[in-house]
Amino acid sequence: MTKINTLKSFKSKSLNGIINVPGDKSISQRALIFASLCFGSVKIRGLLESQDVLHTLNSLQELGIKIELNKNVCKVFGNGGVFLTPKKNLNLGNSGTGVRLMIGMLASRGITATFEGDRSLSKRPMLRVLNPLERFGVKFKHNEGRLPVTIEKNELLVPCSINLKLGSAQVKSAILLAALNISGKTEINDFLPSRDHTEILLKYLGADIQVKNSKKKNIITINGPIVLERKNINIPGDFSSAAFIIIAVILCKDSEVIIKSLGVNFFRTGLLDILEKMNAQITVIKKWEKNGEKIADLKINSSNLIGCKIGGKISTRAIDEYPILFVAASYADGCTEFTDLEELKFKESDRLSVMAEALKKSGVKLKLGKNSIKIYGQKNQKGGVYIKTYDDHRIAMSMIVFGLASEKPITIDQTKMIETSFPDFAGLMKKLGAKIDYVQKP
Ligand code: S3P
Repeated sequence: MTKINTLKSFKSKSLNGIINVPGDKSISQRALIFASLCFGSVKIRGLLESQDVLHTLNSLQELGIKIELNKNVCKVFGNGGVFLTPKKNLNLGNSGTGVRLMIGMLASRGITATFEGDRSLSKRPMLRVLNPLERFGVKFKHNEGRLPVTIEKNELLVPCSINLKLGSAQVKSAILLAALNISGKTEINDFLPSRDHTEILLKYLGADIQVKNSKKKNIITINGPIVLERKNINIPGDFSSAAFIIIAVILCKDSEVIIKSLGVNFFRTGLLDILEKMNAQITVIKKWEKNGEKIADLKINSSNLIGCKIGGKISTRAIDEYPILFVAASYADGCTEFTDLEELKFKESDRLSVMAEALKKSGVKLKLGKNSIKIYGQKNQKGGVYIKTYDDHRIAMSMIVFGLASEKPITIDQTKMIETSFPDFAGLMKKLGAKIDYVQKP
């Protein structure tokens, strides 16, 4: 018998419940990396135990860091920034954040290391991280700007001032991590501010870091070298994982779901602003702060969405949510136009063209531009197709949500990639009442 290895979603009604979503992936990766730089043991609560995070954890262990993973607490025994030269290549699997932050961290630690990843990660651009790090004096070997990447020389590094126009938290974080062990002041002129989990965590752990905001840019300065203070870290629920549930609840009739203890960092919640414009019913029940990160309980109700125009600076604040936003737009009343989507092409897949292909196949009317897409929404969408997800977890989850509202079911080609960010996605959705089944590949 063929193994049951994929998912099918069917038109569903009334999703209901009070839930927590798994820990934030971006903060989990950073918590492990920063804890390894402290001196002594750090307890991390709420760590996401997904494949991406486990790849980072395994790489830190390769570098000589002791890590104990128990049920609710992860204990990292930091070495104050001293690492062993790894005996084998560091494999970061599917994780762009893992590989780019680890390259940044090791760039100034006086050891050599080679980084590799899976099929999708090996296609993704690395020069965006290597070029700024070269400004410090680090030398790399790479495969035409892609993995595998080797740190070849990283001694006698000097601080510098770097202009960052890309709007990438991974690049910004790699620079800051390298600067932590470089003597003197490093400055980043950040023209398109992105998620600031690194800055928040560095401040919390006692780094000498300042962020000055102006209309044109943020100026981030950091003074090194420094050993981070040993402090425990709490991780809120992942807003990007919650996004799939939020849209599913909005699209399925008579639904009401409360999501508790969700990370609502300003740079992560562009989706809420966009959904407000689209007429969604979302209420903040309670809001608080823990180790510098904003957290909230949210109530979501089924809503009749309306189309709108989305573009400009919000792109960096909703970057991981576009695939599921395209699904929301497919069921909205009228046209939704998304612009400024250049960066979407460099994710786990080219999310702009892959989503356009998946939605078109499912019956959605759309017009694809170079860095934009117009989606002509309507209440009823056909569905009834088999979707190729191109090794991309967010394409897989987005299209499963599409199938909860389409006339006929949606089947995706594989579920494996969902484990990189949201291992129990199907289980949690089913608990809320979504009709999702594991099936054999057609
Ligand atoms: C991330 C930053 C973003 C985001 C990714 C996670 C991070 O990538 O898309 O999923 O944890 O810093 P970029 O920095 O490439 O925009």
